[in-house]
Amino acid sequence: MINNRTQEFTAEWKSPSNLAIVKYWGKRAIQKPLNPSISFSLKNAVTTTRVSARPSKQGGFTFSLDGNKKDTFNAKVANLLKMAASTLPFIDTHHLTIESSNTFPHSSGIASSASSMSALALCLTDLQRMINNESKSSLDLQVVSELARLGSGSAARSLYGGWTAWGESTAIANSSDDYAVKLSNVHENFMQIANAILIIEPKTKKVSSSQGHALMNNHAFGEARIKQANDNSLQLLEVLKSGDWNKFFDIAENEALSLHALMMSSNPGYTLLHPNTLKVIEEVRRVRLEENIPVGFSMDAGPNVHLLYPKNEEANISPWLENNIRPLCHQQLIIFDEIGDGPEKIITHEL
Ligand code: PMV
Repeated sequence: MINNRTQEFTAEWKSPSNLAIVKYWGKRAIQKPLNPSISFSLKNAVTTTRVSARPSKQGGFTFSLDGNKKDTFNAKVANLLKMAASTLPFIDTHHLTIESSNTFPHSSGIASSASSMSALALCLTDLQRMINNESKSSLDLQVVSELARLGSGSAARSLYGGWTAWGESTAIANSSDDYAVKLSNVHENFMQIANAILIIEPKTKKVSSSQGHALMNNHAFGEARIKQANDNSLQLLEVLKSGDWNKFFDIAENEALSLHALMMSSNPGYTLLHPNTLKVIEEVRRVRLEENIPVGFSMDAGPNVHLLYPKNEEANISPWLENNIRPLCHQQLIIFDEIGDGPEKIITHEL
């Protein structure tokens, strides 16, 4: 039974960003990936979004981030609302007030589109559930993941705690290009993974991820990249089961360096690396080889570096991090994060 509501009703969700170890790079129609990707959800880097819906024949929305109107995000939000309306028809018959806040700075190398689009997709699905008078436990996270994907590809992977895979792979049961699935059977080592995010250069990137994805069409190494990502996904799945940190670092670093190599060999080619990015990479590999410190790196499409290490090695890694790595960061800035439990519902004002 559809409920005829006349008053405002609200949903509020907190959703994390995630870090891909096997990277999504290149897409085809409506945000479907060219290759499978595997990530883990972060704990501290989260977006909290509150959506209030008021019946209105015109529909429409307002959006604010950290209390300020943000026109740059309006297009992304409008795009998601437009595409989600066929699944969530209440969007066309309500005015939405969308208020978002992030726990991490913008352009910090943390994918804010992943946390913000997944938080928005959760709120919207929850509001439609209320209109449909469905029970509170009836959110289907696969459906939410598919909606989040329409807003930003990597957002599809933020709906679950722990490890997640998105994109069809013969090795992953129920995997799909449409939505992400949660991975089970992950060794306890990788359920305790820490991620120190080194802010090497906080400036907005000169080439956006969307432009980078587009340059994968007709890329000279396009076919080879798809094969590499599939092979790395198979290997990573094995490593996630076995708990082998060294093999894990090999895959994570191969993916990070390949991502940047693909950018450099695009047509036109471009670089997002900073001289200190390269200094960090060299230093991470040196300390692992020479001092046996279990640390590796990943990178997204930017100059910042994500250090990866076992959470229980934090005390051993800290002196090296403070002395050798922090001075290479912009204003000495490091954001500490780790694997998290996935989205959390904050409040629901139901009628
Ligand atoms: O979701 P998008 O379109 O911002 O693309 C994200 C791409 C990478 O962060 C570089 C890799 C990934 O899988 O998250």
